[in-house]
Amino acid sequence: MLLNPRFIFLACLMLMLAACTQVKQPATDALAVAVEASASALVFEPPHVDMGAVKEGEEAVVYLRVRNSGDSMQQIADVQTSCGCSVAEPEERLLMPGGFTRIKVVIDTFAKLDDVKKWVQLTDGEGKTSKAWLTLTVRPNPHMGDNKRSIFDGKCAACHFDTAKGKSKGPEIYTAVCSMCHGASAKGAVAPALRHHDNADILASLIANGTGSQHMPGFAQAMGGPLSKGQISALSEWLSKLDE
Ligand code: HEC
Ligand code: HEC
Repeated sequence: MLLNPRFIFLACLMLMLAACTQVKQPATDALAVAVEASASALVFEPPHVDMGAVKEGEEAVVYLRVRNSGDSMQQIADVQTSCGCSVAEPEERLLMPGGFTRIKVVIDTFAKLDDVKKWVQLTDGEGKTSKAWLTLTVRPNPHMGDNKRSIFDGKCAACHFDTAKGKSKGPEIYTAVCSMCHGASAKGAVAPALRHHDNADILASLIANGTGSQHMPGFAQAMGGPLSKGQISALSEWLSKLDE
């Protein structure tokens, strides 16, 4: 029975189908919308919005459209976003099949540089998620020179200041307050790589006082930053010993 040619034919067909579905898995392109099992029937349309050029320090505003692509009522239970964005209440939380709503997103471009990419994610009533990507280019703003704002203030502090508390070792301090700009292992991201620095004193001074631009503020407590003298020396010792 198992060697019945019809069975073998069917088995081959199933294998081929399985192979095809594998090939169709989305590439890991961050802009591709992953079609996962947990994907929500609530979809962003479009899933990627290019917001163009914005002057540093100005707010970039976009309305994201959400559609219920399923055939039952869906609820927007939660909306989350990455750094420095704020999301307003969706205009409707409950969507009929085929129904639309809008979500207003405001990106604070203060201290941002060049190409910025942010995401907004919604969670539906069943815990399934859907993500939209926003890209924009931040241009220098001649009026930003004497700005008194800091990434250590207000709503930015929870992630850029408070995270340093209780940390004493170089690498953990780095991960808490530096890696978001200088990249994992100090290999560079929106800010330059730091691995070529081998003088701990020069590093300590740059970290404590900043470079004079709002992109790289002084991290010393005396400058309004989060780091104690001990933390700054642990951090600069560790950084100065990294291989280039
Ligand atoms: C919920 C935590 C969180 C908050 C609040 C937050 N940030 Fe961030 N920030 C991050 C993370 C994580 C990254 C790195 C990933 C990314 O860019 O989203 C980052 C990266 C950055 C960067 C470098 C990357 C880029 O987007 O240019 C800047 C500049 C920045 N934040 C400024 C701010 C400012 C200004 C505020 C307050 C308006 C703020 N952040 C609030 C977590 C946060
Ligand atoms: C909000 C983003 C941001 C954070 C957080 C940040 N930096 Fe920077 N940093 C920059 C940018 C952008 C530059 C380059 C432009 C400039 O100097 O203003 C820079 C420059 C530097 C420089 C000078 C680089 C050189 O080779 O001349 C050093 C050193 C440095 N940062 C160390 C650190 C350390 C250590 C931390 C963590 C305590 C840190 N930075 C946190 C954005 C950031």
